[in-house]
Amino acid sequence: MPRLTEWAYPLAESLLAEPLPRRWKHCLGVAERARTLAVALGEDSDLLEAAAVLHDIGYAPGLAKTGFHPLDGARYLQDVADADPRVVNLVAHHSCAWMEAEARGLRSELEEEFPRESEHLNDALCYCDMNTTPDGSPTNPIDRVNEIAGRYGPESLIGTFIRRAEPEILASTARVLERVAAAKIQPM
Ligand SMILES: [Fe+2]
Repeated sequence: MPRLTEWAYPLAESLLAEPLPRRWKHCLGVAERARTLAVALGEDSDLLEAAAVLHDIGYAPGLAKTGFHPLDGARYLQDVADADPRVVNLVAHHSCAWMEAEARGLRSELEEEFPRESEHLNDALCYCDMNTTPDGSPTNPIDRVNEIAGRYGPESLIGTFIRRAEPEILASTARVLERVAAAKIQPM
């Protein structure tokens, strides 16, 4: 069976590289962080890396339908790209998407359409996203949350969402570090 990443990289590149080059660099960076967790994730490392490189395709022009990118990206992956359901579900729920869905009145739509994968995979994708700047470089979750709040504005829907999500993001990324430590490897 071909590796998920062999399918995921060209798909993500075709959707993001030209119209949204900065977003594409971010996705490549998130995928790079995913590779740092490979030893801790074992056989799921290919799945995580595929979801990481695809996680923000919902921003691509033509895909953006509801304007809520986790849902738009997941629907595209499911309906158009015929993707592995686990990749679809990880993209749908990436980085505390349920909280932003709630603010947009889309929480039940998101949760009824896409089941959640295991906590450890959702945590791992959140860790990768929250340790990567918009340009794809490594950062830390505190700076990342501050950057998002500053970019969108503290009173905006996303600014409010990210502050509300901050404790969950920090708890999620801390669990990843604990799992990595338990696997006796260094994450970076
Ligand atoms: Fe995202």
